[in-house]
Amino acid sequence: MAGEQGKDHKPEGRPELGEVDGILLPKATCNEWSRIQSFQAKPDDLLICTYPKAGTTWIQEIVDMIQQEGDLEKCQRAPVHQRHPFIEWARPPQPSGVEQADAMPSPRTLKTHLPVKLLPRSFWEQKCKFLYVARNAKDCMVSYFHFQRMSKVVPDPGTWPEYFETFMAGKVGWGPWYDHVKGWWKAKDSHHMLFLFYEDIKKNPKREIQKVVQFLGKPLDEATLDKIVHHTSFDVMKDNPMANRAGVPASPMRTFVYFPSCWKGTVGDWKNHFTVAQNERFNENYRRKMADTTLTFSMEF
Ligand code: A3P
Repeated sequence: MAGEQGKDHKPEGRPELGEVDGILLPKATCNEWSRIQSFQAKPDDLLICTYPKAGTTWIQEIVDMIQQEGDLEKCQRAPVHQRHPFIEWARPPQPSGVEQADAMPSPRTLKTHLPVKLLPRSFWEQKCKFLYVARNAKDCMVSYFHFQRMSKVVPDPGTWPEYFETFMAGKVGWGPWYDHVKGWWKAKDSHHMLFLFYEDIKKNPKREIQKVVQFLGKPLDEATLDKIVHHTSFDVMKDNPMANRAGVPASPMRTFVYFPSCWKGTVGDWKNHFTVAQNERFNENYRRKMADTTLTFSMEF
């Protein structure tokens, strides 16, 4: 198996992370870094930006349904990860995110998890639209832990207590949650950006989807809006093979076939994982790391 998985994989089959400017990223992404950095954005690109596990797939489906004016058949044209190229994604011999984006006709909707400081410059230069979705750190941590346990395309997370420390130290793919959300929150003041919160979409999907509708400049009637709210609700999306990656075949590098078997789609799942002592330690660390921002999160309803 080692031969198939290549030199970037540890013997047990898990890929290693590399590092760019202090941020951990998949090794294959690091190997492609100069091509990713010189990616040419276009002025009519829309870039969906999230920290991993913040609800990327959810907002992708919402955006696509708005762009397709609620036409379900059009949204079924391809799995969600193919509809929106993931610009820093690389897994040779598959086409890279950059190659997929280059091959896509405009106007393009693209996806990234990169922190502000690593985003290819052309996105800023071309004054693209950015749609950022933020999710509270505790639920992101728990979701990321389950994901890393389920998927062999990312490093083994170790035990929960180990992962708790790893996440707080920012030693996970795409770097520290704290710098990610703070960086994008700051960038929204000088760029064309809609900044949404996972918890708000969960609480009032219609109101938040309406914000996206306005941001995209694609007015929709009430019935279409209601259809989008329904289609992108958790229960419907988790059974939609074009949104839940059920269509992605199992492989030696992918343990799961039905991706969201670990999805819960709730706010506050962290309470089922954090011990009282961990919560205190987390809160203390959080206060220090988030002292220099106006950004606040709902961690429970
Ligand atoms: P949980 O692991 O907490 O269940 P991403 O797409 O960025 O990888 O994020 C995955 C997280 O988004 C998972 O969180 C998943 O359940 C949640 N999610 C996906 N679709 C959702 C929906 N329609 N409503 C609410 N949460 C959703």
